[in-house]
Amino acid sequence: MAGPLPDGDPVPDDGSLPVSALTGTDGSLALYVHVPFCASRCGYCDFNTYTAAELGAAPGASQTSYVAAALDEVALARRVLGPRTVTSVFVGGGTPTLLASDTLVTVLGAIRETFDLADDAEVTTEANPESVTPSSLAALREGGFTRMSFGMQSAVPHVLRTLDRVHTPGRAAEAVAEARAAGFDDVSLDLIYGTPGESIADWRTSLDAALTAEPDHVSAYALIVEDGTPLARRIRRGELSAPDDDDLADKYLLADELLGSAGYGWYELSNWARPGHACRHNVAYWLSADWWGIGAGAHSHVGGVRWWNVKHPAAYTGRLATGRSPGHAREVLTADQRRVERVLLEIRLAEGVPVELLTRAERDRAADPLSRGLLTEAAGRFRLTLEGRLLADAVVRDLLD
Ligand SMILES: C[S@@+](CC[C@H](N)C(=O)[O-])C[C@H]1O[C@@H](n2cnc3c(N)ncnc32)[C@H](O)[C@@H]1O
Ligand code: SF4
Repeated sequence: MAGPLPDGDPVPDDGSLPVSALTGTDGSLALYVHVPFCASRCGYCDFNTYTAAELGAAPGASQTSYVAAALDEVALARRVLGPRTVTSVFVGGGTPTLLASDTLVTVLGAIRETFDLADDAEVTTEANPESVTPSSLAALREGGFTRMSFGMQSAVPHVLRTLDRVHTPGRAAEAVAEARAAGFDDVSLDLIYGTPGESIADWRTSLDAALTAEPDHVSAYALIVEDGTPLARRIRRGELSAPDDDDLADKYLLADELLGSAGYGWYELSNWARPGHACRHNVAYWLSADWWGIGAGAHSHVGGVRWWNVKHPAAYTGRLATGRSPGHAREVLTADQRRVERVLLEIRLAEGVPVELLTRAERDRAADPLSRGLLTEAAGRFRLTLEGRLLADAVVRDLLD
């Protein structure tokens, strides 16, 4: 259920944005839709998501009320932004596929009726491998979804158990095959490395299993031990060991080697794809495009204004039921904050960050990571080297300090 939301400036009841946020747009929009429901909770996860037991009979928190409120927020986005071309939709969670495929298709239909959905729009849903069937996938594909992203995490039984995952080791690969049969040309797998008790051989097993499934895209995330999660408590009690930085670095290098030699190029620190299969929606985040997050606790960014919605599904539906924006608070970034944010995000990309985005002092400070082989400079851009990718946070701190 994640920690409390940060405070910021108030969001007006009608959700309106300063004029400055609406000028200078190219008219495109990336839409995220958050589905805050899970069948059971994984001990490592800090996302804003709830099991049925956690929600209980909270008024307004049923799936039906939630979806109705999400559709109201789509309409609110249209009133605030005016006409836009939606270039990508990403339904994330939680477990979006706990909702019936028809419901997800209805949400997409509402987006299509409200905005101009680009003909080549990328339309993704996340899914837990055990929460899809050949027929649910066929209904999603027919209904306009173009991309499936499955949370595989690992193919090793004891790692899956430590992560509280309920699917069997082979289920993710089956789900990829089912998605292919349903007509999906864009399929992604999420993996986690660094789980307590995971050996390097275990990690290799998971990478090999992911590659055998032949997805188009792989995300590999280092396990983050989030405060307040059952995993953090088990580590504090000494039942499990904390992830070790050297082990994480070795596993990152192995991932890059195996994925790279199988034809998946890295395009962002934690993301590898076959040519032409980078996730356009996530790239829009990293390039500071305009994106609107629909749903409880969802974050948005439009023209230098960032805001975040109230977290609890009942609070979210309550706001929209009374015609008010679900925005909890917002922040209007200064030009320099926007620039710094761009550096932080774009340095993560394989194409790097334009040198001209950095101040003179920052460029001077780049001399050190350049001389240490962490950064390269070519064609007017700074790019992280493989070693630099392992130390990305430290490189950014050095540049921006
Ligand atoms: C929000 S989850 C939703 C996907 C889906 N519910 C699932 O778990 O299969 C998106 C991805 O975030 C990653 N993730 C979640 N919690 C994480 C953590 N504490 N550390 C690293 N990665 C995490 C997992 O790889 C997961 O697939
Ligand atoms: S299924 Fe996914 S979103 Fe739900 S608790 Fe597990 S990792 Fe988090």
